[in-house]
Amino acid sequence: MTRVNDRLKDRAILVTGAAGAIGRATAERLSIEGARLVLADRPGTPLEQICTELGKGHSAAFYDAAASGSGETLVQGAVAALGRLDGVCNIAGVYGKARSTDVTDVDWNLCLQVNLTSAFTIARGAIPHLARTRGCVVSTSSLAALEGLAYSTAYAVAKAGIIAMTKSLAAEYASAGIRFNAVCPGAIRSGMSAAKPVPDADPDLTFRRSKLLGFEGGLGEPRDAAAAFAYLVSDDARFVSGSVLVVDGAQFQI
Ligand SMILES: NC(=O)c1ccc[n+]([C@@H]2O[C@H](COP(=O)([O-])OP(=O)(O)OC[C@H]3O[C@@H](n4cnc5c(N)ncnc54)[C@H](O)[C@@H]3O)[C@@H](O)[C@H]2O)c1
Repeated sequence: MTRVNDRLKDRAILVTGAAGAIGRATAERLSIEGARLVLADRPGTPLEQICTELGKGHSAAFYDAAASGSGETLVQGAVAALGRLDGVCNIAGVYGKARSTDVTDVDWNLCLQVNLTSAFTIARGAIPHLARTRGCVVSTSSLAALEGLAYSTAYAVAKAGIIAMTKSLAAEYASAGIRFNAVCPGAIRSGMSAAKPVPDADPDLTFRRSKLLGFEGGLGEPRDAAAAFAYLVSDDARFVSGSVLVVDGAQFQI
């Protein structure tokens, strides 16, 4: 990866979903740019190994985004570990394809809890700390939020909620100096974009693919999303708040 500069030198940042494809690539990118990190993900994920591989004394925090109240606890632990908080990258998420008539209330609530409610509770817990540092929150939406996505209604709704949350918090906390933005990836190479299709699904209603020259299989790479997170948490984006940065190689237009 190209070294940009030390634009995140000593910034204290919490990254959720850090054992996943985009979260890990983001952690790597932020670390290269000089940030001090708390990497968070589910119990059982190899966070300690990732911290060791990044080699800069970052720390691991295990939490379950499906558990109510886990967001605030996670933030408290991150502030204790880092001594301050300059930024949060809300990247944890779950995806699954199912015919909408097969989605139970339990499935629906779990999808919204992990993808949306947990991101909100983390942002809510972080706000008092970010007000001290004029920090920021970057959350993860999806092209599904802008276009809808067949067989993924709950996911698309949760990701649309991320955009509404981001814009609402950006307006409410602008005078406190806190910025809120969202990265909106199209199909990026990961376990998530390889999700099992619904049996007998309409083949035209699968993930879109980019026609941008040079992208194998029409997919972006995790580092393409990571670069967007790094920009939005940095001072290069100091006048950027309430924005949605689409990273999709023009999948949107196809
Ligand atoms: N890959 C894509 O094509 C794509 C497109 C649009 C948006 N996104 C979003 O990007 C983010 C990262 O996705 P990815 O592609 O890296 O997928 P991924 O599955 O590799 O990573 C998701 C991470 O979230 C964590 N997670 C899931 N449930 C959790 C829970 N209950 N508690 C704590 N952590 C939990 C997982 O352990 C995993 O490390 C997600 O929010 C996803 O919705 C991905």
